[in-house]
Amino acid sequence: MNIIFLGPPGAGKGTQAQLLTKELGIPQISTGDMLRKAMREGTKTGLEAKRYVESGGLVPDEVVIAIVRERLAEDDCKNGYMLDGFPRTVPQAEELAKFAHIDVAVDLDLPDDVIVHRLSGRRVCPGCNATYHISQLGGSDKCPNCGETLIQRKDDSEETIRNRLKVYQEQTAPLVDYYKGKGILRVVPCTGTVEENFALVKKALEA
Ligand code: AP5
Repeated sequence: MNIIFLGPPGAGKGTQAQLLTKELGIPQISTGDMLRKAMREGTKTGLEAKRYVESGGLVPDEVVIAIVRERLAEDDCKNGYMLDGFPRTVPQAEELAKFAHIDVAVDLDLPDDVIVHRLSGRRVCPGCNATYHISQLGGSDKCPNCGETLIQRKDDSEETIRNRLKVYQEQTAPLVDYYKGKGILRVVPCTGTVEENFALVKKALEA
């Protein structure tokens, strides 16, 4: 099954995709993770992406489309995949349709005030890529999974979060209607716990 996770920043796309990877055995393809890795490694793509990612803007379509096209051609995508954070504009979705067949688009729905709370408390592991909220960590700054010191993403400051939300409304929200028009949209309200939301996501995929 080829799945897209839509939804505003902080809706829980990465969290749900990581759980679903374990359940379905198909890879999570996060353009955000791929761009941050390229930035850490100082590649040409990383250097080009840096100013957009750190300010909460969108990286140009052609850059992101190229890395997704290349990634989907890899062997582990043959039996299905989950796209997390791609597409993010209608032109990206139109281009994706030329080289991939998507079965379902899951839209994770969440109000802005909850998003700001979740993202300003997010900590990520640079070692194993796990994501946590400070409320889960009991004051520790170590990854419960691998022991690495957790970090806060540069784009998780309140000012940048507000810009990401604005960019989402202007450029990404139209994808909800785009996939509704294709008859493959499933909307999942995500105000519950991680486990409650995961149950709703699985139900939406079964429908
Ligand atoms: P990206 O990394 O994709 O960021 P995003 O879409 O803003 O999404 P996030 O990763 O912030 O949130 P999420 O929905 O995955 O939530 P998470 O599960 O972590 O992109 C970053 C940047 O890269 C973009 O701004 C852009 O510049 C660039 N980019 C990427 N893709 C691009 C594209 N296609 N085109 C152009 N540019 C692109 O959860 C958030 C927090 O909430 C965590 O702390 C988590 O522990 C917590 N949480 C999750 N679920 C719950 C729950 N149920 N209850 C309580 N806490 C919860």
